[in-house]
Amino acid sequence: MDKDAKDYLIVALDVPTLKEAEDIVDELGDLVGCYKVGLKLFLRFGPNAIEILKNKGKKVFLDLKLHDIPSTVAGAVDAAVDMNLDMLTVHALGGFEMMETAQKIIWEKKAGKPLILGVTILTSLDEAFLQDFLGIDKPMEKQILDLAILAKSAGLRGVVASPKEVSHIKEQCGKDFIVVTPGIRPKGAKKDDQKRVLTPDMAIIRGADFIVVGRTIINAPDRGKATLSIIEDIGDGLHKVT
Ligand code: C5P
Repeated sequence: MDKDAKDYLIVALDVPTLKEAEDIVDELGDLVGCYKVGLKLFLRFGPNAIEILKNKGKKVFLDLKLHDIPSTVAGAVDAAVDMNLDMLTVHALGGFEMMETAQKIIWEKKAGKPLILGVTILTSLDEAFLQDFLGIDKPMEKQILDLAILAKSAGLRGVVASPKEVSHIKEQCGKDFIVVTPGIRPKGAKKDDQKRVLTPDMAIIRGADFIVVGRTIINAPDRGKATLSIIEDIGDGLHKVT
């Protein structure tokens, strides 16, 4: 099935209350079909947050970055299937067996979803930390690529990565290996805490399958307008690759 430009967009619901989350979803209506729920909202409101989105017909990406022994993560994935989640993250550093055991739950339950995505190296970590505390000498890009390859070999269908890493990951893991990218900023946006950013059209041109956008939409004076402008930009990117 062909994807429209808006199907590439996932909005990060990084807000402190369910009321705000619901207001945003209602305000954006059909413009947005998928929302990312993170630790902040989930720890406060739990499955309630998911249920509200599901009742509004939205897809849900639960970004809890699971990292534990294989059987514990498998139990969490089992719950995620029952909650009808669409995407879920696990840390690739949890290891091959953890990822494989998680993916096997999806196969055994013949669920098809959630799509389990590997998180490679947190963007908040740097090479000095990897070297000093984990004894990893490889350059960051190589470490990220190796973890993406590990995730793929464990059966995962994709990873979360910065937009600048998409093309390398696609080269190594194949074009069907899904890459979801945060760190998206529209043209001319002011610099903030996101370091490795790209515009929506460039992320699409590099091969991103989904882009995650938070504050650019959530904090916009007119959220609908900000969303439309990002969707237009995604459309421009799609135009350039077809
Ligand atoms: O507000 P902004 O567009 O930067 O939000 C991006 C979202 O993606 C946030 O929910 C953030 O936690 C998440 N994220 C990220 N970088 C990563 C992984 C997740 O920005 N490496």
